[in-house]
Formats: sequence, C-alpha cells, structure tokens
Amino acid sequence: MLVRVGALQRHRRLTQPSDEQRFRPYARARFWCKVGSSRRAKLLTGMKSMDDLLHWRSEFPILERTVYLVSHSLGAMPRATRDRLQEYADVWATRGVRAWAEGWWEMPRTVGDEVGRIIGAPPGTVVMHQNVSICQSIILSCFEPQGRRNKIVYSELEFPSVMYVYEAHARTGRYRVVRVPSDDGITVPLERMLEAIDEETLLVPISHVLFKSSFLQDARAITRRAHEVGAVVVLDTYQSAGSIPFSVEELDVDFATGGSVKWLCGGPGAAYLYVHPRWHELEPKVTGWMAHAEPFAFEPPPMRYACGIERFLHGSPSIPALYAARTGYEIINRVGVANIRKKSERQTELLIRLAEEAGFRINTPRQCEERGGTVTIDVEHGAAVARELIRREILVDYRPGAGVRLSPHFYTKDEELEIAIREMRRILETRAYARDVAGTAF
Ligand SMILES: Cc1ncc(COP(=O)(O)O)c(C=O)c1O
Repeated sequence: MLVRVGALQRHRRLTQPSDEQRFRPYARARFWCKVGSSRRAKLLTGMKSMDDLLHWRSEFPILERTVYLVSHSLGAMPRATRDRLQEYADVWATRGVRAWAEGWWEMPRTVGDEVGRIIGAPPGTVVMHQNVSICQSIILSCFEPQGRRNKIVYSELEFPSVMYVYEAHARTGRYRVVRVPSDDGITVPLERMLEAIDEETLLVPISHVLFKSSFLQDARAITRRAHEVGAVVVLDTYQSAGSIPFSVEELDVDFATGGSVKWLCGGPGAAYLYVHPRWHELEPKVTGWMAHAEPFAFEPPPMRYACGIERFLHGSPSIPALYAARTGYEIINRVGVANIRKKSERQTELLIRLAEEAGFRINTPRQCEERGGTVTIDVEHGAAVARELIRREILVDYRPGAGVRLSPHFYTKDEELEIAIREMRRILETRAYARDVAGTAF
C-alpha cells in the first residue's frame, strides 16, 4: 500500500504541478518553454480544475499540444470534423452527381437553420455563404439610395473588410459613409452612435462585438434608434455568436452576418446571412442561379427570384465547408452559449487581473457587460511578442493599434491563462521578442 501511495505521489509530481507551483507567478515560465510537447500535453491534461466544461477538451486534438487562446480568429478543430470531411468525400465518391439531390443542394439552407439555433433566428431565415464580405455585399445590393436617404453609418472600429464593401460603393457618389469616431480606440460612445443615425440614414452595418477591442455594442439601443428613423440594421455577429447569448429575432435587427471560423469552431468557408422575414421580398442585385425560383429551368433573364430566404442565395455553395462546420455548431449547442458566456466572464476577468499584475496595459473594456470573449493586451513589441508566443506553442494573435489578443473559450484552463501571461512577461524580460521569428501572427 505504502509503495502504491508513493508511486501515486511520484506520478502526481510528474504529471501535475503542485498548487504552490501553479500559482507562483511566472516561476514555471522558463520550464514551460523547455519541456517537450508530450510532457507539456501531460501537464495540461493533469492540471486540476473544478471546471465542468473542461471535459470537452478531449474533443479538440490541438489542445493536447498547445495553449490555444486564439478562438476569436480560428476556433480549435473538433476531432469529429475529420469524420465529417470523410463523409463528404465518401458521398461524392459513391453517390457522384446524385449527391446534389440527396442533400447537397439544400445544405446552404439546412445548415443555415443549424446556425439559426445559435443566433436565435427562426428556421427559414438563414442561408450560408462563403464569407461575411459577400453577405454584406448581397445586403447592400438590395437597397437603392432614396434622395437624401443615402447615409451608411458605422463606427470607425468596424472590421475593415466590411468597411471596404460600403466605402467602395460610396466612391460612386451614390452613398455617404459616416464613420463614428472612438475616443480611446476601444469603445464607441453609444450617444454618438445614436446621434449619427438620422432620417437620412439608409443602413447601419455594425459589429456586435468589435474585433480589436472586444467592445460589446448596444445592438438593441442602436436598432431601436435606427428603426425610429426608418433605417435598416445589419449586425455582424462574427465575434459574438458562440460566445455571448443573444437572439437576432429578439434584437429585432433586419439582417445579421457572421462566420464559423471563430467561436463556432466550424472552420473557414461557412458564413451565415440572416434576413428578417419582413425583408423576404427584396431583390438582391448580387445574385446567382441558386436564388432563382426554378434554378433547374435554366431560364434566360430576367431573374425570377425564389420565395423567402432562398432568394438571398448566390452560385454553387461550398459543400465541404458546410460539412466541416456542422460539428462545431453541434458542440456549441450542447455546451450551451449561456454556459460559455458564464465561463468567459470569469476567465476574461482573471486574464485582465493577471495582465494588470504583470504591468500590462489592457485595450479591452473592464466591465464584463461591455466586452466579448477577448482580452487585448498592449505590450511593447506586440507583434514580435505574439510571434514568439506562437513559437512556444501559445497560440494568440496581434492586431496593429490594439495589441496581443487572447481569448479563453469553453475548453480553456485557468492555468493556461497564467502560462500565457507568464510567458509574455518572460519574453519581454529576456528580450526574446528580438529573436528573428519569421511569419505572421494571423
Ligand atoms: C467582426 C468581423 N467581421 C468579419 C470578419 C471576416 O469577414 P470575412 O468572412 O469576409 O472574411 C471578421 C474576422 O475575420 C470579424 O472579426
């Protein structure tokens, strides 16, 4: 018995750091860098935690090898996604062209309904596209300026690709873009947003959560104001879906867009477009044969639009991406976005505290009701620090003018946040950021 207890203790010493080690700030940082990846995996798996959601870790292979804090950019791939992609290949290989009639053709709509469960959209109001930029282009193409009502209002902190879409159209002189300024590069004053939306406003395309600072905009107040003056709201929920519970139906937005790459762990190529049923009569000018009432009649123009959400489709869909994305949605639904948010509030709080203790500047709102799931930390040499973190298997990214972005998700251990901050500090102390690390932090 004594021998067995001793063995157990030895095993614990090898696989689990003691509490003292775990919580002694930064002491293990150098050790962490030096241990091999298999030992690192054991340490991560062995760390103690009371966190119920951690049992999901085994579904995400990359968590065994890395500290994965980049779900605001690319969520970890679920193990089962490989099977989904295999299923796609098998269907193509065995059913050939018949696959279109056996589910592929409907996938942009059926998969859209699955995303709808996460963003609170009723069945028949969501279709899938390749990316958000194309979804925004489709929306804009439904509208025409009407006299003075040609203003497009958004904050200056929006995702650039979305702004490119609107600003390219504004260059024709048909639209005016109003970019609402931020004082601190982190938040956008609600009053200023509301004032900018007036009777001359046509569209208000805004992010629910801003991509650099993680500021959570008051979508309800902005939508109310927009509707009071007859303007239309396009909510980009890319950085909130799967991280913050909300319902596009309850928010009463007119359109919503987002993708699966980030918090939904669904991979690239599976973006969603929600259209409120009050707009199901619109005729998008960015269109294609899938939006036709009878695509297989191959009629020459003029275009006859399908009824309902299908008229917001385009050309042939990205079928492999739709297969890949579904496992992520299933997991997010099973974990529950409310549970994800509860954990995220606690862990982003912890991350902010650890970063402040290390003397780092935070470029994310301090109040958790004002922020999404990311904490942006501004340190000197941020881009190089991020590259060195990645080299050390701590996956984060860097955004100019903001800092290093770190995002715990439902699969993150508290200890991993400590490791990340310790390593950031160590990289700065030892000037390891000066090492010539090639590559970009995506
Ligand atoms: C808020 C937001 N919108 C849009 C995008 C991406 O747009 P797209 O799907 O066109 O690449 C991102 C990030 O990649 C984002 O953070």
